[in-house]
Amino acid sequence: MQKLEVFGANKLKGQIKISGSKNASLPILAATILSNKKIYLKNLPKVRDIETMLSLLVSLGSKVKIKKNKTIIDNTKQRKKFVSYSLVKTMRAGILVLGPLLAKFRSAKVSLPGGCAIGTRPIDVHLKALSKLGVKYKIDQGYVIANAPKGLKGNNIRFSKISVGATENLIIASSFARGTTILSNCAIEPEIKDLINFLNKMGCQIEWTSKRTIKIIGISEVNETSYSVMFDRIEAGTYLVAGALTEGNLKINNIIPKVIKTEIDILKKIGSKIILKKNGIQIIGNKKIKSMKIKTAPYPGFPTDLQAQIMVLLCKANKSSVIQENIFENRFMHVSELNRMGAKILTKGNKAIVKGKISFAPAELMATDLRASVSLILAALTAKGKSVINRIYHLDRGYENIEKKLKKVGAKIRRVN
Ligand code: EPZ
Repeated sequence: MQKLEVFGANKLKGQIKISGSKNASLPILAATILSNKKIYLKNLPKVRDIETMLSLLVSLGSKVKIKKNKTIIDNTKQRKKFVSYSLVKTMRAGILVLGPLLAKFRSAKVSLPGGCAIGTRPIDVHLKALSKLGVKYKIDQGYVIANAPKGLKGNNIRFSKISVGATENLIIASSFARGTTILSNCAIEPEIKDLINFLNKMGCQIEWTSKRTIKIIGISEVNETSYSVMFDRIEAGTYLVAGALTEGNLKINNIIPKVIKTEIDILKKIGSKIILKKNGIQIIGNKKIKSMKIKTAPYPGFPTDLQAQIMVLLCKANKSSVIQENIFENRFMHVSELNRMGAKILTKGNKAIVKGKISFAPAELMATDLRASVSLILAALTAKGKSVINRIYHLDRGYENIEKKLKKVGAKIRRVN
């Protein structure tokens, strides 16, 4: 099992190039199932979840060719409709192929995602909405077996709760439904906008009619398309926090600042100096870090995927802060490991009281999920001495070349077997 050794403490200085978005790439890769032609995708991040999704497409009969910075997906012979547990158990986003398989083949058998460290990850919202398009389904031995013998029929659907994955599944499925579909109470994350841009480039007819409402006019086939995926805003947010935390001076390139306005505003309030550039952001950390009350929320609220990272920064604040996790039921797995490094964080239900003025001590640590893993690295960067982070396969699911990018800006970090 590989692990990371981090020798703190040092300020991070220099430039970091942000990779393509994992959470935009996954639904876009799922949506390629709609096509019977070649799709050329650029800027896919080289991370484990993307490899898993590509293997999933290959298991369905797609041909995948990876060139230097382009991935070619050829679905001309893609006919299978079964997605095994072995593929979905490591990556819950596998459920995103359910909608496209139903749209293209009118039937599918896909493994239920099952739970993970941060929560049970149910798909009731996906299934209830798909049944409004005429899908019949049953759950059998851990699989969803779904059919729409007469094909999908457009409808007016209001999601019972805001769900990124359910919104994505239904946008893709409705693209091939007969007639018009109106989806309301949609999630509006930038990755969903990227998915819609990709689908429309393929020839779909999707438009936003109001803040959380989408209108989709069904079509029956899509064109050969090339598309470049948006930047990873969570990776960008993670490195901005690293700059603030180490009182460093970092330039984060390849991003569109307005997409992460919420995070920028919070970091400014905390005391960091932020200089917006055309395709990047410079952050200059400040010794004085102000305490905050933060609640995670669907976009454009503060993202749950940055909650662990901002918690590390708030351990250094002048007084106690409160973080409320409103999206997932168990997303404080990083707290116990941070407390082993000297943090004083008390959790009660979905609230964490984060004591300030903490100096992290180095320790041997255990990663539990993708974003918790990176929060341990952030804390280790400020701890004087050697920390070791185990189970970093969690990290490799969503951060491309993290030790290379951090080393380039002065971190002392290395991967050991
Ligand atoms: C997406 O997960 C992201 N994953 C997550 O990022 C992100 O944390 C999450 O959205 C929230 O922004 C990808 O995009 C691949 P949801 P998703 O459906 O779609 C509940 C990361 O670290 N829910 O918006 O699974 C659900 O349990 C990952 O990159 C239902 O109850 O999130 C959760 O509490 C982690 N029933 C809440 O809604 C459903 O049918 C939000 O989930 C679906 C969801």
